[in-house]
Formats: sequence, C-alpha cells, structure tokens
Amino acid sequence: MIITVTLNAAIDKSLSVPNFRLGRRHRTVDQRTMPGGKGVNVARTLKSLGQPVIATGFAGGATGTRIVEQLTQESILNDFVRIRDESRTNTSVHDPTSGEQTEVNERGPEVSPKEVELFQDKLLYLARGAAIVVIAGSLPRGVEPGIYADLIRELRHLGVTTVVDAEGEPMRLAVRAEPDAISPNVVEAEELVGQEFNDDGDRMAAVAALCALGAREAIVTLPDGCTARVLEDGAPVLRRMSIEQREAVASRGSGDAFLAGYVAARYSGSSPTECLRFAVACGAESTQHLGAGLLDPAAVERLLGEVHAQTLEPSASAL
Ligand SMILES: Nc1ncnc2c1ncn2[C@@H]1O[C@H](COP(=O)(O)OP(=O)(O)OP(=O)(O)O)[C@@H](O)[C@H]1O
Ligand SMILES: [Mg+2]
Repeated sequence: MIITVTLNAAIDKSLSVPNFRLGRRHRTVDQRTMPGGKGVNVARTLKSLGQPVIATGFAGGATGTRIVEQLTQESILNDFVRIRDESRTNTSVHDPTSGEQTEVNERGPEVSPKEVELFQDKLLYLARGAAIVVIAGSLPRGVEPGIYADLIRELRHLGVTTVVDAEGEPMRLAVRAEPDAISPNVVEAEELVGQEFNDDGDRMAAVAALCALGAREAIVTLPDGCTARVLEDGAPVLRRMSIEQREAVASRGSGDAFLAGYVAARYSGSSPTECLRFAVACGAESTQHLGAGLLDPAAVERLLGEVHAQTLEPSASAL
C-alpha cells in the first residue's frame, strides 16, 4: 500500500478561459472541479496507474466533506482527519490562447494541536500496512513547520519509505530528517540549496548538495525532465532524463504526476533509471489534461520510448 499525505487538501477549480484579462468579465470554455492538494493529486494518478493507495490529511467544513465525498466517488480510498475549520478552495485559470496559467489559492484552515495529534496517530496506524508514504504540499495554519521532519523520523522507525515534495521551511526541515527521496522543482531546489542553477553542472552539484543535506535520493524536476542523484545497487549515480516539450493543455500538477509515476514504479520494484523514465513520461502526459493528477496510462506507455536517459559524469565533489 502507498499512503499520500495532504495536510492542506483543497477543492481545486480549473477553468479554461481564452483571452483572459485582468479586470474583465469572462466565460469558461471548459472547467473541472475536483479534490486537490499535491498529495491528493498524487493519489489520483497512482489510482489511475493501478497502484493501491490511501489518501490522508485534514478535511474540514462543507469543503472538507466535498473533498472526501468526491474522492470516494473517484474510488480513491481515503481516511482524513475531520477538522473544525473549513478546507480551502483553489482556483486556476488556464488561458488556451496564451498558454498562461494564473492561480489563486485560498489561505488554508487553522488546525488545532489536538487535530494534529489525531492526524499523527492516524498516519502511524495507516503506515503499518504501507511500503511508501508520500508527503506533499503546503501546511495549513497552526501546524508546526517541523511536522514533515517528525513524520519522516517516525515512519523510518516503522521501516516505511518516505518521499517528500514540499517547499519553504517545512521542506528544509524535512530534508534534514533524511527522507528516502525528494522531488522539488528547480525553483524549490534553488531555494533549498541557496543558489541559482544555470546549467547541467549546477544541477548536478545541486542534487549532490540536497543529498548532503540529508535526502537519500534527490530528483530536481525540470520543464523537460529531471536531474537526479539516485542509488543504484546502493551506489549513487547521476541521471539526466529528458523528453521533448509538448504543447500543454494545462501544466499545473505535472510535478505531482511526475512524483506519482516515480512512486508507482518504485513500488513495483523498477530500477532507479526506469522509475525516473516512468516519472518523466507521467509528468509529460499529464500536461495533456485539464485537472491535476489526470493522465492516460496507455499514453504514458507510448511516451516511455521518447524519454532520453543520460548518465552524467560528475566531478568528484558531486558524488
Ligand atoms: N510542456 C511539457 N512537456 C513535456 N513535459 C512536461 C511539460 N511540462 C512539464 N513536463 C514534465 O512534468 C514534470 C514536472 O514538471 P515541473 O518541474 O514543471 O513540475 P512542478 O513545477 O512541480 O509542477 P506542479 O507543481 O505544477 O505540479 C517534468 O519532469 C517535465 O518533464
Ligand atoms: Mg511541484
């Protein structure tokens, strides 16, 4: 079983609005409303890839009820801690004429210490039957930034693999707790490492730096693939995976589809390079769908052959 953690779960509204302009009134040409938050998106993709997954986290108020009900309608197993405050609704507007995407994310609910405690108990209980826990996304108010780090340490004691995709202080602390893998995008990785990357050399140094900070494996997603430092038979290798950029219907959530692909392949026992290949194909395929976490598994299979794998030869310091 795979568990996904979404502490700031949401109802995501994706709107397709041609010629979107600030200050104007518009009509949508396409729209989709579904439960979201990074961990929920990852769960949706894992489910469509045929992997066993349970989504957990916090859900509150009428929006929380809707999150849980819609997940159940999608046949995504879920077990959320119900909280008093209202879960958020996030709105993204995709303009098919310009390809631009605009997001407005509501401030998350306030979570009480008692609710946090209930969640920790629930996760540790669920994790007893799990091989991998995916921790992804932002924190609602009232939750300590060290929560992901605490969870990673406790899950390690249970022998569960932890994979994290978050940003800011919660991610910084999480990396130091030595998760099995992290998958920040470029901007998030630059923030963690504390410098900008200009080329493959910088990105190689960055994944090595992320591992030096604590991650066992570090994958930095790029618009055309990823740069990763993964363990092959216990030994670190550097891989650059790439795929031709496609015209996106909506690219939001492609990082979540990437992560789900990586986790699905890892759960199935694929080699690190094949996990990355599958992840890149999932990320790319998901850009063809409006709505985070949606992809067509058959189309992913067709894309696998288009993912180019390169082994980077590091300077001694990068390993
Ligand atoms: N236009 C595109 N064509 C092909 N692949 C894409 C495209 N956009 C994104 N991808 C794939 O999706 C993966 C994740 O991309 P990216 O680094 O943009 O994620 P992200 O910033 O975390 O996205 P989000 O947070 O919205 O989920 C990458 O591996 C990339 O290969
Ligand atoms: Mg991301």
